[in-house]
Parts: sequence; structure tokens; C-alpha cells
Amino acid sequence: MNITARRDNKVIRSIQERDRYLEDRLPALHQATESGPIAVYGAGKHTAHLFEHFGALLPAVAFVLDDNPEAWGQLIEGVRICDPGTARPEEVTAVVVSSDAAEAVLAARAQEWVGQIEEPARRPSVCRLYDGCEFAYEKRVRKGQRKRRHHKLGPFYGAHRLEPTFNALYDEGLESADVGDNEWRRARFYNLINLLKLTAGLDGFTAEAGCFRGQSSYLICRTRAEQEAGDPFDGSTHVIVDSFEGLSEPTQPDGSFSAKLYEAGAFANTSVEHVRGALRAFPGVRIHKGWIPAVLGELEDVPYRFVHVDVDLYEPVKDCLEYFYARLVAGGVIVVDDHGPVPNGSYPGCAIACQEFSARVGVPFAPLSAGNAVFVKRG
Ligand SMILES: C[S@@+](CC[C@H](N)C(=O)[O-])C[C@H]1O[C@@H](n2cnc3c(N)ncnc32)[C@H](O)[C@@H]1O
Repeated sequence: MNITARRDNKVIRSIQERDRYLEDRLPALHQATESGPIAVYGAGKHTAHLFEHFGALLPAVAFVLDDNPEAWGQLIEGVRICDPGTARPEEVTAVVVSSDAAEAVLAARAQEWVGQIEEPARRPSVCRLYDGCEFAYEKRVRKGQRKRRHHKLGPFYGAHRLEPTFNALYDEGLESADVGDNEWRRARFYNLINLLKLTAGLDGFTAEAGCFRGQSSYLICRTRAEQEAGDPFDGSTHVIVDSFEGLSEPTQPDGSFSAKLYEAGAFANTSVEHVRGALRAFPGVRIHKGWIPAVLGELEDVPYRFVHVDVDLYEPVKDCLEYFYARLVAGGVIVVDDHGPVPNGSYPGCAIACQEFSARVGVPFAPLSAGNAVFVKRG
């Protein structure tokens, strides 16, 4: 199926036009895959481009399939390329066909692959990105490909990949929260945990605004448990706020990507019970269900040493910065998850909220290359 179940019969004339087309299509993919891991069919340049520029918009990619035996076992932007003869379709919820000009051929191969599962209803869906499109930019593709050779090191090769302790913790978090992986998120959460460690020994609570299924709160609590081993950490000085119903309505600064996520009902697949389960080792965690800003009024007025703001949108990011910065102890840190750079500025509202807050309060902040941004409270 086409992920948006419509045929556009569009002529795409440049890579830039193709990128805009993808940006429009990809949010619907999350709904089509029910947030499960996906496979990508085709290990060519299209997939490298997709991962490099749209990694943050993709659901977790379990593996890439390719019919070329020479590619098997290699990595493409950190994801393993597998033999369709041995990779199991049961492990994914969808297969995204990753090619422009050869999409129809690869889609047929993907259909064969999912056809190994006898019962049609149990087969992963085969998602075509460009069904009905025609491509008319052969020369420009070649130019773009030549240029890429000089920019081979993408974000997926970041330092976080070389830290086995962090990666083991991160993988535990994926399992506890029962969410798929995403290389951009892995890089951002590497920063998150290292910044949390900087606040060790300061007084105050930790907090997370926007927990979804509990992955980053799990990482925060586990790290605190290690840091505070002398005084076993039961979670009671960690606060979570979330609607547990997904995003609030985006506003003008948020741009079109958030609007599409909102329409697709993204991040609603969670509950307080699920997060309690993910954080069962920390039964004292204070979970507050409700919409920001109203829910912030229900919190006990306590000082904070570290806050993770991961609510994606201009209004709630702005409200959280106002609320938590005022309660941050000297040396305390706020990490905003979605500042950017992210491909094509997917969450522009977060960056605008950070810039406006910084200008209004007269406090600088540091945007990091993985996409998160850091505020530190001065003494
Ligand atoms: C990207 S997810 C958070 C991801 C999470 N930190 C993790 O580790 O997976 C964004 C979260 O923000 C929440 N959210 C967005 N807008 C909100 C608002 N106005 N009030 C409360 N929660 C909100 C959503 O429910 C969602 O769980």
C-alpha cells in the first residue's frame, strides 16, 4: 500500500522536491506501522539519503533488506543490511520500499518477502513512498551523489556509538518502555544522560515533561540509582508530567510536521500504567497526568537540579521553561529535546521557544549537534 493510500500522479523534478514530498509522507508512516519496528527494502543511495536526512521521522528500523549478497552484513548509517532469504518478516510491522525510480520492482520483491507468512492478515504492510509519481531529475541525482562522498560522516557515527555502557543502558530503556530504536534519539539521550551526571551532588528533584512510554525517565532513574547508591533511589524525587494522550494542538510556530503528527494521533499509545510498569524499579516516581500548562499547577513547589523537556511543541516547551527554570537550583540543567538541527527543522516551535525564553530571561543556551539544547542556571 501507499502509506497515505492515495496516488498523486506527480512529476518530481529535483531532490529538493522529492525531500519535500517525503517530509509530507513520512508522518503517516508512524500510524501505518503502529509504532513497531520496520524493515527498509533496498540498501542503495536512496536509503542512505533517507536515513541521513529523515532519520528522526522514521519509526525504528530493525534492518535493511537487499538482494545483493555483497551488501549483507554491512551497515548503512548504523543499520544492518540483511539477506531477505534469512531475515524474518514476523519481526517487523511494515516494510518501506526505499527507491524512487525502481520502486515498483522493489515493492514486488517486498511483497514476496512478506508473503512467507501464510495468513495475509498477519503480514507486515508493504509501504510505497512514491506510488504514482514520475521522476525527471536523473542528472541532478548524480550531482547530489558526487557531493555526498565528501560528507560521509553523518550523525549516526557519533561518539555515543563507542560507549558500550551507555548503549547497554539505552537498550535496557528500549526494552523497559517497549519502544523501537531511532539513531537520532540514541545520540540525544547520550547527551541527556551525560548532562544529568553533571548535576550529581546538587540538591533538588529531577523531572521530565513528556515521557511517552517512559524510555528517557527510565534512563534518568537508572543513572540516578547508580549515582546515589549510598541512599537507594526509589524514584520519589523524580517527577513526570504528560498528557498520556499525545501532543496538544500545535500552534503557528510549530510548522507542518507537528501538525501532521497531531492529526495522526502520535504519542497517544501509552498510559500511566504502562510507564509505572517501565519504571517498576522506582515505585516512588511522581507521575502527573494532564495537559501542560494546567498540570504544572498541580506539582508540589520543589527545587529541581535537572529537567528534561521533551514535549515537541512551542507552547508546552515555553511553559515548561518558564515553570522549571524559575525552580532550578544554581548549577541545575534543563535539556530541551527537540531544538534541532533535525532534518528540515521538523520541530521549529521548540527552537523558537528556546530562543524567546533565552532573550527574555537573558540566559544563554547551547544547541547540541544531536538536536537537543541545554540551559544551565547560573549561581
Ligand atoms: C516525543 S514524546 C516524549 C518521548 C519520551 N521522552 C521518551 O523517552 O520516549 C512527547 C510527549 O509529550 C507529550 N505532550 C506533548 N504536548 C503535551 C502537553 N501540552 N501536555 C502534556 N503532555 C504533552 C506527549 O503526550 C508525548 O508523550
